[in-house]
Amino acid sequence: MQDPMFFNKIAAALLVALLLFFGLPQLATALRGGHHGGGHEAEGAHPFPQYPIEYAAEGGSGGEAAAPVDFATVLAGADPKAGERRAALCKSCHTLDKGGANGTGPNLWGVVGRAVASHEGFNYTGALKAAGGDWTFDRLSAYLENSQAYIPGTAMVQRFPKVEQRAELIAYLNTLSDSPMALPTPAPAAEPAVEPAAEDATAEEATTEEQPAEH
Ligand code: HEC
Repeated sequence: MQDPMFFNKIAAALLVALLLFFGLPQLATALRGGHHGGGHEAEGAHPFPQYPIEYAAEGGSGGEAAAPVDFATVLAGADPKAGERRAALCKSCHTLDKGGANGTGPNLWGVVGRAVASHEGFNYTGALKAAGGDWTFDRLSAYLENSQAYIPGTAMVQRFPKVEQRAELIAYLNTLSDSPMALPTPAPAAEPAVEPAAEDATAEEATTEEQPAEH
């Protein structure tokens, strides 16, 4: 026996093959012994979900994962203290204090709301100067997400793919100011995507308002 993992590998390969062939929800159904003629229970009937994993896989025909993130909403919940810790990274090139010197990058005091490429005495690239306008919350987020993609040719190379991290950083940057900007208003919560129930919802709305208040 050269490979003690031989049978484990075979088993793993089989499982992967099954997954690829059936897909996860169908496999879950197959494993618990049922083959319901290819169809699940009528969608409107709302059976109790015995298997959360199957329930999750069926929900909303995959639309939820693609829901766009509202930056203002993330920003509203972002902790500036966490951003302060992250900003340690920026300090190798930027000073953050009021009146701080320019270094490899410009001083960042009051950068939220400041005109792009406008700090006294810093030699900005033509690319950043050409961008124009002010540093809004959204533009800072785009710049920090991928500076080179947002402003090709800018001298700064930074990438923060995680929106929570950008929000923390920007929430912190906003505190570095004599007059911090008001945070943008979060977009109203998206309507839950419960397609089968949507038509019944109007009928039920009237009753929800009449519910007695309980104390
Ligand atoms: C390796 C050096 C370096 C690091 C690290 C760095 N930056 Fe920069 N940053 C620069 C340079 C250089 C510029 C000027 C870019 C230009 O002129 O194109 C700049 C410009 C900026 C600007 C535009 C400022 C203005 O006046 O228009 C912002 C905002 C900014 N950086 C934020 C950050 C933040 C936040 C971090 C930390 C997460 C960070 N930077 C980390 C080098 C750096």
